[in-house]
This record gives sequence, structure tokens and C-alpha cells, in this order.
Amino acid sequence: MPRYAHITGWGKYIPPGILTNHDLAKMVNTSDEWIRERTGIAERHIATAKETTAFMAIHAARDAVEVADMDPAKIDLIIVATATPEHCFPATACLVQDAIGATRAGGFDLSAGCSGFGYALATATGMIRSGMHNAVLVIGSETLSQLLDWDDRGTCILFGDGAGAVLLQGKDEPGGVLATSLGSDGSGGDLLIVPAGGSKHPASVETVTNKMHYVRMNGREVYRFATRVVASAARQVVQQAGWTFDKIDLFIPHQANVRIIDSAAKALKLPPEKVFVNLERYGNTSAASIPIALCEAIDANKVNPGDHLVMVGFGAGLTWAACAVQWSAPKRRALAAPRAFTRLRYGWFGLRSLLSKLFRHLDALLSRIIDFIERRPPAV
Ligand code: ACO
Repeated sequence: MPRYAHITGWGKYIPPGILTNHDLAKMVNTSDEWIRERTGIAERHIATAKETTAFMAIHAARDAVEVADMDPAKIDLIIVATATPEHCFPATACLVQDAIGATRAGGFDLSAGCSGFGYALATATGMIRSGMHNAVLVIGSETLSQLLDWDDRGTCILFGDGAGAVLLQGKDEPGGVLATSLGSDGSGGDLLIVPAGGSKHPASVETVTNKMHYVRMNGREVYRFATRVVASAARQVVQQAGWTFDKIDLFIPHQANVRIIDSAAKALKLPPEKVFVNLERYGNTSAASIPIALCEAIDANKVNPGDHLVMVGFGAGLTWAACAVQWSAPKRRALAAPRAFTRLRYGWFGLRSLLSKLFRHLDALLSRIIDFIERRPPAV
């Protein structure tokens, strides 16, 4: 029996701290006018030390679970798309799993740069359609601000922090994520790269001195790649879904540069009212940009039941990912659980996690004591 992957919940977390173009002009040789004109960005949100990738992912995930009115224990899998995971390992997804009480869920992180959300959505959809899983939480969460060289005006003006999440559930009614298209071209890997911190260049005095843990980008080449790939990926996924472009109600592209978005919209002959743009306030939040934009589009009443949506991401790899979604969730559902109950529930999940840690320590201590007693020479 065919199963369809429907988006039933969504949520986002935006750190309150704002860095404007004027703030940046005090840090590097740039201006509000240059940044607005070349990118369309006016300000971006920057996370504090407390607002880590996992922290933001957890908040976005909780909202998505609540909107879907889902018991977290029924989630089968959590995928966190991120270029800025909490640690090399464990996966950020496992930290989310613990914090939201998804006791039966597997979890892994997915690395595909700014295309990560599209890759994760495609992976989750495949798993649901194959019958392997029924409920998959897909999150894009990024703290790119931690990887920026704040002396490099070519990159530090572009990025911001944030997280967005969707819950996908399998249903028999047609709709939801109907087509996906993924692509990559590793020959352009060096065009957008954080050279160190992996196994090739582990952290050393030399990597730190040479600023190899920061984002390095050939902006002009990435721009050329993006303007080429966004329209072609959109065309491919629309064709796969069996749609035509006049059917598209909303195009939600990766929010990197308004000139890239305008050029794609022009190539696809999409009028401005069918193209969602919010990068003026967020900059490029990498894998979080499309789910944040989706949440804002829903809040702005731009997404309605039956609508045909196309999302296209592109980024490091080089990678690209396009998805065609027939929206099926009821219009603007209120959060299902009352706030106090929700706080209590997540408080309990936190306590349960602490107790698990405590029992693990006690268990280890007990084993050591038993070992010690068993190995002790018998008293004469
Ligand atoms: N302020 C003022 N001047 C600047 C700045 C700045 N912030 N940055 C660069 N310049 C200067 C350059 O030094 C250059 O000066 P020069 O002519 O004297 O050498 C001039 O402006 C033009 O530079 P370009 O790089 O040609 O500027 P361009 O119009 O291409 O804009 C930009 C640069 C905004 C980076 C653009 O290339 C871009 O958006 N590229 C795509 C980047 C992108 O989307 N990356 C994310 C991909 S997603 C992911 O996976 C992370």
C-alpha cells in the first residue's frame, strides 16, 4: 500500500540577539548599503554561548511535536541536518532525542551544508514511504557564527544562527512530500570549506594560527553555481511530481542572497508574491534557513491546505536538494498542549535523563565494588 510522508508539525527557534549591518560596519570594512545591495541582508540573529546547536534544535523540535500533537515516544527517528554539530560525536540528534523524551527514536546528524534540510527531508520521506518508519523528526539547526572569521568581510556578513524543525508522519492519503531531487559536485568542495577540525587537519597550534577552523569561501564561484542549480533543481522536482510551474503556490528557496533568489524566480517565471524571502532579518542560516522560512510562511498565512510548495537548497559540497510538497496540514493549528503541562512534561524528561546518568554511575560504582570484593584475597 503506498504511504505518503505528510508534514504534521513545525517549529523554529531564533536566538534573540541581533547583529545589524551597522554593527558589522564597526567591525570590518563594509557598509549597510553594500551588504543590502549585494545580499539583501539587513540583520542576522547570533546565538549566545547557551544557545548551542542542540539547544536551538531542541526548542524547534518541541514546537514541532506540540503542533502535531504527537507523543514524543512515538517518534521513530530524529535527523539533525547541520554543518555546526554540538560535538564531533555524539550526534546532536541524540541530545535532542534525550531532551524531548523520544524514548523509541534513533538519531543521526546529516552533513550536506545549506542543502542539509532538503537531504534530511528526502531521507525521512524515503524511510516513511518504504514503510520502515512512521514518524520522523527533521531538524535544521546551525550556529555558523561559531565558525566565522569575524575579520573576513567576505563571509562574516552573510551568516546567522537559528533552527527549524518539521515532523513527518506516514499516512495513506496522497499528499505531503511528493518528490525529491538531490545532487552533488564534489569537484567544488574547496569553494566553501572549513579546512580543519576533521581527520585531515585535526586541531593543532598550526590550524588555529592559520585560521583553518573558519569558513573559507569563494563567493563569486558559489554565486555562479547557485544561480545555475536552483532553477534546474526546481524544474526537475516539479517534473518528478507531475506538476507544472503555473501550479506552484509558494517557492521557498534557501535564503542565502536575494540576488540568487531573484535570478531563480526570473528563470522559473515565478511572480514575487509566490517567492518567500525572509533573509533580510536572518541572513543565511544554512540548514535552518528553509524550515525557518516555512514556519514564517505558515504564520503569514501563505501556506494553505492543498498548496503546492517547492523548496530548493544549495551549499557546501557542493550540494543541492529540491523537494515538492503538497501541503496537507490543517490551517494554523493552535499548540496542542497547555504551556504549564508542556513545561512539566519536559521538566520530567530532563529529570529522567539525569536519573539515567546517575543510575549509570551507581551501576559502574557497584560493579567496581563487587570486582574489588571478588578479587580480594580471602581473610585468614
Ligand atoms: N563589504 C564591502 N566590500 C566587500 C565586502 C563587504 N562585506 N565583501 C567583499 N567586498 C568587496 C570585494 O573585496 C571586492 O572588491 P574588489 O573588487 O576591490 O576586489 C568587491 O567587494 C566585489 O566582490 P565580489 O566577491 O565580486 O562581490 P559579489 O557581488 O560577488 O558579492 C557575495 C559577494 C555577497 C559573497 C556573493 O558572491 C555571494 O553571495 N555569493 C554566494 C555566497 C553563498 O551563498 N554562500 C553560502 C552557500 S550555502 C552554504 O552551504 C553555507
